[in-house]
Amino acid sequence: MRLNHYLFALLFLALSACKQKETFTGYHIDKSIIADSAIVSTAHPLASEVGLQVLKDGGNAIDAAVAVQLALAVVYPVAGNIGGGGFLVYRSGDGQDVAALDFREKAPAKAQRDMYLDAEGNVIEGKSTAGHLAAGVPGSVEGCWQMFQKYSQLKDWKRLVQPAIDLAEKGFRITASEANGLNEYKRGFIKNNTQACVFVKKDTAQLWKTGELLIQTELAETLKRIRDQGRDGFYRGKTADLVAAEMQRGGGWITAEDMADYHAVWRKPMLGKYRGYDLISMPPPSSGGIALFQLLGMVEPHSFAKNGFHSPEHIHLFTEAERRVYADRAKHLGDADFYTVPVANLADSQYIQQRFANFDPNKATPSSAIEGGEFTGKESKQTTHYSIVDAEGNAVAITTTLNAGYGALTVVGGAGFLLNNEMDDFSAKPGVPNLYGAIGGDANAILPGKRPLSSMTPTIVTKDGKLFMVVGTPGGTTIITSVFQVITNVIDFDMDMTAATHAKRFHSQWLPDELYLEKGATNEATRKKLQAMGHKVVEWPGIGQVESILVRKDGKLEGAADIRAKDDAVMGY
Ligand code: DON
Repeated sequence: MRLNHYLFALLFLALSACKQKETFTGYHIDKSIIADSAIVSTAHPLASEVGLQVLKDGGNAIDAAVAVQLALAVVYPVAGNIGGGGFLVYRSGDGQDVAALDFREKAPAKAQRDMYLDAEGNVIEGKSTAGHLAAGVPGSVEGCWQMFQKYSQLKDWKRLVQPAIDLAEKGFRITASEANGLNEYKRGFIKNNTQACVFVKKDTAQLWKTGELLIQTELAETLKRIRDQGRDGFYRGKTADLVAAEMQRGGGWITAEDMADYHAVWRKPMLGKYRGYDLISMPPPSSGGIALFQLLGMVEPHSFAKNGFHSPEHIHLFTEAERRVYADRAKHLGDADFYTVPVANLADSQYIQQRFANFDPNKATPSSAIEGGEFTGKESKQTTHYSIVDAEGNAVAITTTLNAGYGALTVVGGAGFLLNNEMDDFSAKPGVPNLYGAIGGDANAILPGKRPLSSMTPTIVTKDGKLFMVVGTPGGTTIITSVFQVITNVIDFDMDMTAATHAKRFHSQWLPDELYLEKGATNEATRKKLQAMGHKVVEWPGIGQVESILVRKDGKLEGAADIRAKDDAVMGY
């Protein structure tokens, strides 16, 4: 090769390397904003952008939520989904309409109480957490369809689905977190799929890199069916058949009939009060609303803020309330369509005060004095929450999940979407903890068509009839205590939305009898004092991933996206 040719070739190589490198410098991400009219806070900048654009195009918060839910299913496969489920809590701007939509997954018709037990009656590890048998009948598409039918302002379903199709078809650049997630779960994907899975490279030795384009052609085709046929594009015809075929190949139980029979349910939201604020949250099959109101009710008579944020007194009080509330959760809570959940009794203020009557301000009550169990709780987990307020003040809080990260790790062959592993939220056997260490019994036992108990707590707070706050988070059983803390951070500790969202957190849940402190949540002296009171203190890397919105005194909106996750992004105008 002549020298000038050689140099030219080198130059060409250098230029194309530059070109490849220049492609991705990351997304613009705000963790806190103030806006005049509207805010969208989600776990991914592309999803927030999709929601914001819908609002700017004249859509309301529900329109934005539908577009966000579907976009997240593409750009945030770790938790965003069409193969999972979730809950919507909604309040119209004028406060005349409050609603709760349950689009939680359902156990398939063939499900049985002991489906995860061996012949000796022991839980078979992994059976409810990965692969085909772990999946419940997905509810998210029906959720989107129902909320669109009831509340859409745009009344243009296709417009709302299209951004997700474009993201799936043309692809999008994956962030470092997503690349890490996909790489981390590679073996699981390989193990739990019957066909080549879009999340594993053709050359399986290859890893994902930050900024690489992820194209999901099969998912785009499924989304097109949803765009063109509405909910039937998912629950009937080709998509439902692909789910049924996937189940047959992989030994799962969801049939095309299960898909056709799926229905989301409008439920009466849980309404509660705390220090003159009104709260709207999720009723069963979530434990979130009841547990949150019990926690707030137990601490309300105590002026804990005077001792200081994360003082031993503050943490002790909250932990003691949590111990009692999670014991109630394990005993009484499940899908109220199948089990009589004593909702009114549990939320009754007299009951709540009586339940907390043996609180000792100086000493931890051993959880064994309340009841017993075990906790595994160190598994990787994922769910996602988004909060939206539009220019009319309509507010949407949605928490949605595949349960664990990437759900069952099983993609429906030919349809390109991940299935949930929500069946693990049932109590596989009384007293045996699930992924989040939660235990349960009859109330949350598996039955055909039943919905597993959830902790998801999408919540809206109002004051004097006006919107005040929208809040929610993923985090399994830590969801309830995270929402509890964000609300009290604002109301009792007078924090703004950003400080309340970003502040360190702690968690306890009766069993195991441990108090989890987020790294940096307290100083050494506080930890020692808590230990001296009898708390078993455990350091925890991160609790929750809150997306929240506050209406400030000056009428402007403050939105926050959690700093614990790199990609969470809040946008507004
Ligand atoms: O519904 C529930 O309570 C759980 N499936 C939520 C899982 C979750 O939040 C995992 N996220 N980090």
